[in-house]
Amino acid sequence: MKTEVSPQYLPERSKSLVEGARGSRELGSSVPELADHPLGFAMDQEGGNAVVTVMFTLPNAKNSALPRAVTIFEEFEARIQHMETKPVRKGKNGADDLDFFIQCEVHSSGVNTLINSLKRVAEGVSASKEEKVPWFPRKIRDLDRCQRLITKFEPDLDQNHPGHHDLEYRERRSQIASLGVNYKQGDPIPRVQYTAEEIATWKEVYTKLSTLYPSHACKQFVDAFQMLEKHCGYRADNIPQLQDISTFLTERTGFRLRPIAGLLSARDFLASLAFRVFQCTQYIRHSSSPMHSPEPDCCHELLGHVPMLADKQFAQFSQELGLASLGASDGDIEKLSTLYWFTIEFGLCKQNGVLKAYGAGLLSSYGELMYSLSGEPQYKAFDPDVTALQPYQDQTFQPVYFVSESFEDAKSKLWIYASKIRKPFSVRYDPWTCSVETLDKPHTLQEALTHVGEQLKNLSVALDKHT
Ligand SMILES: [Fe+2]
Repeated sequence: MKTEVSPQYLPERSKSLVEGARGSRELGSSVPELADHPLGFAMDQEGGNAVVTVMFTLPNAKNSALPRAVTIFEEFEARIQHMETKPVRKGKNGADDLDFFIQCEVHSSGVNTLINSLKRVAEGVSASKEEKVPWFPRKIRDLDRCQRLITKFEPDLDQNHPGHHDLEYRERRSQIASLGVNYKQGDPIPRVQYTAEEIATWKEVYTKLSTLYPSHACKQFVDAFQMLEKHCGYRADNIPQLQDISTFLTERTGFRLRPIAGLLSARDFLASLAFRVFQCTQYIRHSSSPMHSPEPDCCHELLGHVPMLADKQFAQFSQELGLASLGASDGDIEKLSTLYWFTIEFGLCKQNGVLKAYGAGLLSSYGELMYSLSGEPQYKAFDPDVTALQPYQDQTFQPVYFVSESFEDAKSKLWIYASKIRKPFSVRYDPWTCSVETLDKPHTLQEALTHVGEQLKNLSVALDKHT
């Protein structure tokens, strides 16, 4: 039986992260100028390009082979980085041939065709390819550069947004969003003086959802929610401030919040998770539609996401997802976004044999929270290889939900999945410097191993004291 979805209970729009991943290629031109990185592989700001080294011989360069070869490079929009030629005298007819050595940058998808085309006009064609790695933040302050927004669900552009025709709402949303635009990593998060109307909207959402949490949310969520009520001003008549929550989370799991102006691109959002930074909107949904927002807002972030970020295992799972995304191809970003979608947004888990919700898209949506645990949808065990390919639903409730045995189990499976993503390096997060190290050289691996060895020694001494 199919469940009809009342418009007021439509799913949250945070799912657009997957759609954002698909559209990320279109956003490449908005990446700011970046400094060179001292890496053993090429960094790419646009994604999908490769550096190709090709060698070939053009028989008797005086004939038409040379212009034909040039045309091939032009057709594939190859950017020549280096070129050398050397005349080769052949023995029999004495004609001068030319040996070419060319290094160029070309889109990965065109490399094979370019080489095959070249083989039709040249002899002895050989080539090697070096994949370019998309740029990624190395230090936590690099997150200031990870601010590409998906704007099509904002009230100014989306005609179906409940606030589209409300100029006063749009101006207020824009005013609050500007706090995220101007924010620099490390700044205190500006406080928002919410209006009575905004607090009334929050109150309606808070009151309705909080009645479901004890029976529908997982234990970690319920425990954290109680602590947020105690320490961070979570109340029906108060919209909590991001700075207070960020301080609380940092003490619990090392996570911190960062204000953001709207829906972020998948690559930038996932990258911030690698640093245990959760990018968070501060404006609130339109008062005419308290149970649904087409874009993420503070109800979705503070009620759906924040409580789970206070759990150590879940925080680690979130960071693993973020670390896996660093330098990943656009295709892998789409798969990781899908994993994010079916876990952090719409994940279920089993506790004492009973299904419970831990996904933010569920815990901030009354209708889908009820539906997801109704027994009506299909349930599958969380398996990253399967989950990453599952089509998602963005106009109604999900037809299928993935169930994790535990966050520890989900984390282990994700780690195995991430280790299979094709990248020329591994990464390691250094919590003391809040930076990411690339493990692509023997000395960096040795340093990491030494560090792990020291930690094991400490744990061994502690174990001896307590056994
Ligand atoms: Fe979300």
